Amino acid sequence: MNRIVVIGSVSMDLVVTTNKRPQAGETVIGNTFQTVPGGKGANQAVAAARLGGQVEMVGCVGSDEFGNIIRQNFKQNQVGTRHLRTIGEEVTGTAHIVLADGDNSIVVVQSANKHVRFTDVELEQLLDDQTLVLLQLEIPIETVEQVSTYCHQRNIPVLLNPAPSQALTSELLEKVTYVTPNEHECRDLFGDLPIEDVLRRYPNKLIVTEGVRGVCFFDGKTIQHIPAILANVVDTTGAGDTFNGALAVSLVEGNNLEEAARFAVVASGMSVEGFGAQGGMPNRADVMRRLERV
Ligand code: RIB
Repeated sequence: MNRIVVIGSVSMDLVVTTNKRPQAGETVIGNTFQTVPGGKGANQAVAAARLGGQVEMVGCVGSDEFGNIIRQNFKQNQVGTRHLRTIGEEVTGTAHIVLADGDNSIVVVQSANKHVRFTDVELEQLLDDQTLVLLQLEIPIETVEQVSTYCHQRNIPVLLNPAPSQALTSELLEKVTYVTPNEHECRDLFGDLPIEDVLRRYPNKLIVTEGVRGVCFFDGKTIQHIPAILANVVDTTGAGDTFNGALAVSLVEGNNLEEAARFAVVASGMSVEGFGAQGGMPNRADVMRRLERV
């Protein structure tokens, strides 16, 4: 394997910082407003490319200024855009983010991301056995299911980041190679079972991210816990995306799941030290230096 193909969302993040998160029916005064490139798919593509992956982004933008800025951003980060389509009658997806009390709340408007759909012939031109596919859930679920089935039939590995949370069929979970929910998504997917029991059902496949506590997975013999690094938190947006992009890079390089998770935990921990989903994403040299200190 040498290629990562991200099939997913591409958005512009509209980020407001405020001292107080508004309650329902409440208006509060904000501090700052910025627009920065985001979208879970795009974030994972940029994270993987900064860490040295050969990355192709497959998705859709609208025919507007946000779409142009996003294309430019991919170019600067050396993410391939041959399969990034512009949808004439649509606007680019947006994510409306409130940053308060050291955490975020996000409303995503899919817009052009709703148009990420393929025929099997198109998938054939896109994917081969040298590819790892990275998927999330901000595009139509039918596309996620179609791509997973296509890849399963051809032994093409798929890393599914089941975010934002939604119910998934057990068939889909069986077809993908890796699933990376956070704790909340894990509970939504598998109910209130103890996490150890859920992990044991999916050896070397289910990797649960637990924020400041790091990540865990079952290696077939024991449950592995990989602790997070100590970070100076500026903005946690995109930390999960950095984890997934980094995990993909390390797996494509032939590392085992434990090595890949250790690399990804460090990259993800470093990503929270900058503003914006992509603002703190580290490059490879930075991660290697930090790994030496862990
Ligand atoms: O995972 C973070 C991302 O989720 C943000 O960049 C925003 O676009 C939302 O989709």
